[in-house]
Amino acid sequence: MAKYIHGYIPEEQERLLDQAGVLAPLIYPWIDFSDCKHVLEIGSGVGAQSHILLSLYPEIELSCVEIEKKQVKKARENLRQFIDRKIHFLNQDASKLELKKEVDGVFICWVLEHLDDPASVLTKAFENMSIDGTVFVTEVFNSSFQFYPKLPSLQKYYQVYNQFQRDLGGDPDVGLRLGNLLKEAGFLDIELQGGGFHLDQTQPEELRKIATYWKGLMKSGSEAIIEAGLISRGEVLQMEQDLDQIASHPEGVLYYQFIQAKAKKQ
Ligand SMILES: C[S@@+](CC[C@H](N)C(=O)[O-])C[C@H]1O[C@@H](n2cnc3c(N)ncnc32)[C@H](O)[C@@H]1O
Repeated sequence: MAKYIHGYIPEEQERLLDQAGVLAPLIYPWIDFSDCKHVLEIGSGVGAQSHILLSLYPEIELSCVEIEKKQVKKARENLRQFIDRKIHFLNQDASKLELKKEVDGVFICWVLEHLDDPASVLTKAFENMSIDGTVFVTEVFNSSFQFYPKLPSLQKYYQVYNQFQRDLGGDPDVGLRLGNLLKEAGFLDIELQGGGFHLDQTQPEELRKIATYWKGLMKSGSEAIIEAGLISRGEVLQMEQDLDQIASHPEGVLYYQFIQAKAKKQ
């Protein structure tokens, strides 16, 4: 398994909850588990997306698979309001997934980028799905990120951040590969679409909100990157200042595309 760039400190666990809330309006319009009875969430983290899934689909049974014990513990806390629902927390490596019964829906969001062998997780998802099962995947395509003005500290930090993830064995552009990875795992009827944001001063509040979110995302990798000697604390601060500047600059722009995929088992 590739080393996890974000780590598992409490601030990062909080960030995942915040991230799910900020990005939900961009992610969920394309996702539909309304015909599903039992959904599997792979890489469920602290239950941030699970919370949304349980709220959107009040009838589903949900199985959450997560490799890190600390995340499972936090997810149990974060989902305690759903105590009456059928939720199963499985502390497993999804590339070796073993379920007691098949699921008819699979949800994966911001997970495959962290894996050195994302195909193995999709293959396990395929094996554990019923014949009528559907998978929805949402993943990063970090090379799509654009900003204006081209401030140098953000530019440098972003390049170092993505290279660091590659060095750890992950793939910050894994979204581009989703169609081929799903095909390799045996899935059919594969559909792809881009989602994301193109924000400027025509939507100043959204621009500021996403600039703040992006600062948190970038900082979530900073301790590990500093420890590796690739960036200094001062440079992290400058990267944050660049994002603040973009949010208030009369010509400020933030642009990003993630990739979503939908596929069927048969
Ligand atoms: C960026 S977090 C996203 C969590 C959640 N999907 C969300 O959007 O809030 C990625 C999660 O995948 C988990 N993960 C990474 N590799 C895994 C694996 N092989 N099996 C199961 N979980 C894994 C990490 O521990 C982490 O909690």
